Amino acid sequence: IESGHGVKGLSEMELKDLPKEYLQPQSERPSNIKIMEEASIPIIDVSNWDDQAVLKSLCDAAQKWGFFQIINHGVPLEVLENVKRATLVLFAMAPEDKRNYFKENSPSNHVRLSTSFIPEVENALEWKDYLSLFYVSDDEALALWPTICRDQLLDYMNKCQVVIKSLLQVLLKGLNIQEINEEKWSLLSGSKRINLNFYPKCPKPGLTVGVGRHSDVSTFTILLQDDIGGLYVRAPDGEGWVHVPPIPGALVINIGDALQIMSNGKYKSIEHRVIANGSKDRISIPLFVNPKPSKMIGPLKEVLVESDEEPKYKEVLYSDYTLYFYRKAHDGKGTLDF
Ligand code: SIN
Ligand code: FE2
Repeated sequence: IESGHGVKGLSEMELKDLPKEYLQPQSERPSNIKIMEEASIPIIDVSNWDDQAVLKSLCDAAQKWGFFQIINHGVPLEVLENVKRATLVLFAMAPEDKRNYFKENSPSNHVRLSTSFIPEVENALEWKDYLSLFYVSDDEALALWPTICRDQLLDYMNKCQVVIKSLLQVLLKGLNIQEINEEKWSLLSGSKRINLNFYPKCPKPGLTVGVGRHSDVSTFTILLQDDIGGLYVRAPDGEGWVHVPPIPGALVINIGDALQIMSNGKYKSIEHRVIANGSKDRISIPLFVNPKPSKMIGPLKEVLVESDEEPKYKEVLYSDYTLYFYRKAHDGKGTLDF
């Protein structure tokens, strides 16, 4: 891994066995997952964001599942394909070139190529490599992000703006908030991060994980996945797990902890996991729409007044909240439980 080739390097060695660092405890292995074959997360056509029926489907899905797929969202297929291709190209780079983006070598902590999640704190590693890019501005991204993928990513993020804006408007309408001022935009979506995930083919997929159970700390996440599959979401019954099937051209949306907090628990930030694959590499690209780090987040006062509820969560500085998330392993416990 130090050599710069990550889990991908291990995968290419065609090992017969899984290196012991990746052995997950029994409880986290795929054989222990109760899969609900009949259930599926909603698939919602958003060609008309202003349609009341669309609004209702989106808000219901955010409440019940915390996860849904959107189709006819307006981000061109070609743009999605370009991002996926750029991701493959990035991970195909020579180890000595990839090394430039490691934490130790990267010119900025806004660009970090890594493996597993937080190897320093994990008892068992995850079978995954990823590049994490914190977005500040196009200018900074052009200066710092790997040349090999930055234009495709910026184009994608730019095209996603309509989705981000429309979805936030709809979800807030569902909370009876009709007007979103500048202050609220930056509270809900004042920062962004995009990750490029690479899950190499694994010699013993039954003994490890692609990503361990966790919920996202975002406001919401827009996930682009390839056609391999492997993402599972905890079902509303709390017991079973539901697969998120790849749909060409679709984007997966999941509510994150920040919006669960701000909606005072109305919208759910749901635990999810990725299993490793024994025969194919998989890629996914989550775009995290986050509060501005310097904002205090807590249940929105409009929500409390409207529903006449007590706040279920304390106010917290968003950067403190994420700091906590990034200091512990994916142990299945949501950051919300702290
Ligand atoms: C994640 O939630 O961390 C990754 C999701 C995916 O790869 O599908
Ligand atoms: Fe996630």
